[in-house]
Amino acid sequence: MAMMNIPSMLLCVFIILANNFIPNLAQKTPPVVFILGDSTADVGTNNHLAQGKLKANFPHNGIDFPHSRATGRFSNGFNSADCLAKLFGLKRSPQPFLFLLRLKSHFHKHLFKGVNFASAGAGLLDETNKNLTVVPLSEQINQFTSVHDNFTAIIGPGKTKEILCKSLFFISIGSNDIFDYFQSKTEIPIDKFITILMSTYSKHITTLYELGARKFGIISVPPVGCCPSQRLFQKQLNGSNVCFDPMNEFALVFHSALDTFLHKISSQLPEMKYSLGNMYRMTNDVIKNPKLFEFENVDEACCGHGDLSAAGPCNRTAKLCPDRTKYLFWDLFHPTQKAADLAAHTLYSGPSPIYVSPITFSQLATDD
Ligand SMILES: *[C@@H]1O[C@H](CO)[C@@H](O)[C@H](O)[C@H]1NC(C)=O
Ligand SMILES: *[C@@H]1O[C@H](CO)[C@@H](O)[C@H](O)[C@H]1NC(C)=O
Ligand SMILES: *[C@@H]1O[C@H](CO)[C@@H](O)[C@H](O)[C@H]1NC(C)=O
Ligand SMILES: *[C@@H]1O[C@H](CO)[C@@H](O)[C@H](O)[C@H]1NC(C)=O
Repeated sequence: MAMMNIPSMLLCVFIILANNFIPNLAQKTPPVVFILGDSTADVGTNNHLAQGKLKANFPHNGIDFPHSRATGRFSNGFNSADCLAKLFGLKRSPQPFLFLLRLKSHFHKHLFKGVNFASAGAGLLDETNKNLTVVPLSEQINQFTSVHDNFTAIIGPGKTKEILCKSLFFISIGSNDIFDYFQSKTEIPIDKFITILMSTYSKHITTLYELGARKFGIISVPPVGCCPSQRLFQKQLNGSNVCFDPMNEFALVFHSALDTFLHKISSQLPEMKYSLGNMYRMTNDVIKNPKLFEFENVDEACCGHGDLSAAGPCNRTAKLCPDRTKYLFWDLFHPTQKAADLAAHTLYSGPSPIYVSPITFSQLATDD
């Protein structure tokens, strides 16, 4: 693999993906899945935040979801949390914690299938998007703590431990901290900020481990400087819709810091297993070679307002692209269902280690 050039590596990815479109049916009972993170994984959490400013529970969002329902997902259909869950044999992502809370008497029945805590706009840092009202990662972990307590109350500590050590914990977070870093024009140098992000990640992973989590599927950040909102920003600055490179460089450094950090912490937490998805590389390869992945447009949003369809959100009055399967981006920030599905298949099957390391998400589930 190391000796292949980039195009043949991509071709090989493509063939592997094409051959892996059927999920692993040998895995009889789906694993229990807990999902934490931001809008890439939010399946309706923010609908339940009364003061929340970041919502997607209106059309054209959800246009390709069953019954064209706008569920709160920032997508035309399923998002990466759903696509991953499907590969593990679930129908879609588990329900949002804030939704389950409202079920009251049925709360317990659902808990054991897993829970999604992800909230659009959330960051590793509590300060990230605080004024837009989101559920930051620290609060998502508090919510998991209460789920852990509910498990313990119902089935006892021994059985809880047994279930949690086999459960999968997917975490997809970091992009919003990077957006905030640039928006706030902070004086903190990038390396210092990355150190703060990693020590926060460390604290959260340690807490989850102490509560019984063992298998972590971690997703790093894509080249956020290439999303339509940032391209529009560049276009307005200097006439060309190029990616905003400083933000991409930050995302790259974030990935390598995360790689180093996970390697280190997994040697300190003896039973921890992890798989790290290189979302930067996956997305960048698609942007560089769209045709290879059957995309035709990787810089504009499919749904939105104005130039690059990135000047306004995807809402009822937004313009829609003619073919949603040809676009990498659904709205000014988020991938289409097709892009999310491609990412999920790559996380699940590899190839490893170029896109997911040290093992794939599928190996994470089956390894004991
Ligand atoms: C939130 O804070 C950011 C940065 O201080 C600011 O740019 C933005 O306008 C604020 N948004 C709201 C809704 O208050
Ligand atoms: C779940 O646990 C939390 C925290 O211990 C508790 O407040 C809540 O009442 C429990 N919910 C149910 C339905 O048991
Ligand atoms: C235009 O944007 C590119 C990419 O960020 C940057 O390298 C270049 O310096 C910019 N040019 C001007 C005139 O601002
Ligand atoms: C949709 O977004 C546009 C652009 O921000 C805004 O002008 C319009 O009022 C919004 N429409 C609805 C129905 O929310």
